Amino acid sequence: MAQYTIVTMPGDGIGNQVLPEALRLLKAVGFDAQYMHADIGWECWRREGNALPERTIELLARHKLGLFGAITSKPKKEAEAELKPELKGRGYSYFSPIVTMRQRFHLDTCIRPCISFPGNPLNFIRKRSDEGFEEPLVNVVVFRQNTEGLYAGVEWTNPPEQVRAALTTHPKFNPFMATPGPDLAISVRIITRNAARKISQAAFEWAKKYGYKSVTICEKPNVLRETSGMMEDECKAVAKKYPGIALRSTNIDAQTMWLTKNPEDYGVVVASNLFGDVISDAFAGLIGGLGFAASGNIGDEVAVFEPTHGSAPKYAELDPPIVNPIAMFLSAVMLLEHIGENEKAGRIRDAIAAVVKEGKVRTYDMLRIPGGAKAIRQGAASTFQMTDAVLAKLKPPANAQTAPEYVVAGDGNRVR
Ligand code: NAI
Ligand code: MG
Repeated sequence: MAQYTIVTMPGDGIGNQVLPEALRLLKAVGFDAQYMHADIGWECWRREGNALPERTIELLARHKLGLFGAITSKPKKEAEAELKPELKGRGYSYFSPIVTMRQRFHLDTCIRPCISFPGNPLNFIRKRSDEGFEEPLVNVVVFRQNTEGLYAGVEWTNPPEQVRAALTTHPKFNPFMATPGPDLAISVRIITRNAARKISQAAFEWAKKYGYKSVTICEKPNVLRETSGMMEDECKAVAKKYPGIALRSTNIDAQTMWLTKNPEDYGVVVASNLFGDVISDAFAGLIGGLGFAASGNIGDEVAVFEPTHGSAPKYAELDPPIVNPIAMFLSAVMLLEHIGENEKAGRIRDAIAAVVKEGKVRTYDMLRIPGGAKAIRQGAASTFQMTDAVLAKLKPPANAQTAPEYVVAGDGNRVR
């Protein structure tokens, strides 16, 4: 019996290309796990009218740890149109399986590290006043509240009468009173004190554990007085318990400007759902973009790790695949760290760092050339070659008696 069971959800498109590659690394470092495949995503929706089938939920509930690739999602009308004929017109409605998974398992803490690898040609650089350039290394970890805020899903076009009636009790609703229902769309931003406290607590704990000097709460309390106000109040209250860590407060709009001027000034950043989504993508752009952005969705019982990129359908059929698997690798590293397998996590991270620094093997995004089949002819590494390169740089375990046998290539370990 393996020590751990990991539920693997490759999903759609390039999720199917990158997730099996991460498993090759996990096997190579000797992670004692078995993997249970679970369906999720657009193909599930088309076949079953449900993008997150109950059997997947059951597997996650039982085994608690998930690795997820990416899914495709499309607007309402296309969702209905692409259902298989027998399911059409039977009242199925599409919900994002990721959002549903986060809510179902209360995966309320989303961690998105944005940490530069030295030598990455995609790293942020800055022009100095003497016309030279410098490359400040970014070391930011974004804590995003994952289940509430504007993504809570409480929204309407043409809101029901009781909702309208409730809104009319607010004087600021006056200008909208005459708007006809079908012309009125409302999304509710919900923040609870408990969730605001919990995400702040998680951010400060991380800062303490990993030696960050500051936590920045990134909201907009001057305008969103109630919701951002509550986030900030709770974060301030939590900060009092961590006297060695500075609390900084920024507004989301200003933060997106400052982060391209002085990204090295930030450490841990905490934000509500939408703002956390925005700011983590913005920081990720400074450390290499979608090919490098990993995330963990953490609940009290279940945790699911995923790259932040989507299913990139236009590259999904390429053979060999060309997308960068590093974001998926870093997601697997986060899973290992989450369960305390730090030595194995460190070896994978070091091997990735070595490959990036050496610069011999680079996927198309790292070469800044257009994607597509011809990228390989232009010298880009395939997804498989990137994995092979990382495997080749893995150091043996610190306590190894004999060198382990690494599986460097071959289809034997690729789950398709
Ligand atoms: P995307 O992240 O799938 O791709 C955007 C572009 O980024 C790609 O065309 C490609 O040029 C590049 N890219 C993405 N991942 C890459 C990688 N690993 N290596 C190199 N380049 C990479 O976002 P897009 O095109 O907006 O959405 C495509 C589908 O994915 C949509 O159906 C969308 O709803 C879904 N999506 C799913 C997410 C998830 O599963 N977490 C997140 C974002 C989008
Ligand atoms: Mg996003």
